[in-house]
Amino acid sequence: MEDIINLCKRRGFVWQGSDIYGGVAGLYDFGPYGTLLLNNIKAEWRRSNVQLKENYVEIDSAMFKEPKVWVASGHVGGFSDPLSECRVCHARVRVDKELGKIGVEADEKMSDTELNTLWEVNNKSIKCPVCGKIDWTRARMFNLLVKSNLGDFTDKGESPVYLPGEACQGIYLNYKNIIDTCRIKVPFGVAQIGKAFRNEISPRNFLFRCREFEQADTQYFVKPHENEKPYQKIKQERFDWYLGLGIRKENLRLKQHTHLVFYANDAWDIEYNFPSYGFDEVEGIHDRTDYDLTQHMKYSGVDLNYVDPVTKEKYIPWILETSAGVGRMFLAFLADAYTLEELADGATRTVLKLDERLAPIKFAVFPLLKNKPELVKKAREVYAKLSEKFVCEFDDNGNIGKRYRRQDEIGTPKCVVVDFQTLEDGTLAVRDRDTMAQVRVQLEELG
Ligand code: GAP
Repeated sequence: MEDIINLCKRRGFVWQGSDIYGGVAGLYDFGPYGTLLLNNIKAEWRRSNVQLKENYVEIDSAMFKEPKVWVASGHVGGFSDPLSECRVCHARVRVDKELGKIGVEADEKMSDTELNTLWEVNNKSIKCPVCGKIDWTRARMFNLLVKSNLGDFTDKGESPVYLPGEACQGIYLNYKNIIDTCRIKVPFGVAQIGKAFRNEISPRNFLFRCREFEQADTQYFVKPHENEKPYQKIKQERFDWYLGLGIRKENLRLKQHTHLVFYANDAWDIEYNFPSYGFDEVEGIHDRTDYDLTQHMKYSGVDLNYVDPVTKEKYIPWILETSAGVGRMFLAFLADAYTLEELADGATRTVLKLDERLAPIKFAVFPLLKNKPELVKKAREVYAKLSEKFVCEFDDNGNIGKRYRRQDEIGTPKCVVVDFQTLEDGTLAVRDRDTMAQVRVQLEELG
């Protein structure tokens, strides 16, 4: 993972947030190639979850919400991680994670007593990561919601507003708007990609655990008790989506939760085998029953019952959720594509074998020689033509071998070289990233 993180920095995929001020833990900025990759992942996610599904719509809701939303959702009361503080230097750690490191299974959904019993028995062997001493406080729950202020509420001395702890709440708040305005009937799905913010006690593992991140969510509204079949189908579809975009099957698995988060009746994770970190969650698939709509109906006073247009049955739909961290997907795709290959001359080449749909740059166009104006001119023409349809890069810097290596490292599937033969018969030398084989084709044949 260290190598992948270095590549991300070196090649402009991801940088530490507020870098020039020393950086802030758990915040990251995506550079130019990172932004392209991120957008391609989101585009594929949208294609599969909205475009190819007749009964799904997409929305984009405001991040700030009426503060009562987070009380109704259960986040103000129950969205917490267990924290312990070093009595010597006051460093804070996440108790379940520290226990996990010494092989004791624990998670944030355990009861206070369960967790503190485990903590007290085992923490004598856990050194403070900052000062190295062993003197821990009792574990206490630490709320993860990030507070902010918004004139209307804060000026009146009312409760703080919160940044979204999970992106999906905007979907529940608009469920009635969607039914009233879209020609849609239960069962139907709503998709949204949105930001989430969590006051993680110990942000760690690069993009894996951040304080600000994006979630790509779908919420599928079904008739009560008609959840089982679609739940199985959704789980499989989401699993296959990763495989379809090139993730190796041996690196992906589905795992059921043993301890459930407050809103879920059943929960599964799609886990990816991250280098250095091992198998961990990329996407959560949750059977949320009628929890969310019932809570919002109670707190808002608005009737959120659905009336079946044919049978006139009245009910609160149950919700099946898929929620993927976009940064974790990004890291999984990068890790799976990251390849080191030994070449015939003993050198090593680094290649990102990303699926072509995800690759940040689709074609890199090179004139064979920089100092031959006729080659440069023709290469510029090819670049301009291809750029009309694809994200391309022009490069005339350094020898051709170095230019290939640079493109391999950022995952460009095809390099297109304009050489002397191009000037004679119009063909371009096209080199494949993975096989390094070259073929000659006409410009019109590309793409
Ligand atoms: N609406 C459901 C929900 O928020 P979750 O399991 O807490 O469920 C869903 O989060 C996904 O969001 C996770 O599978 C993970 O990919 C991503 N995620 C959660 N916390 C994260 C964090 N601190 N940093 C980066 N991604 C995170």
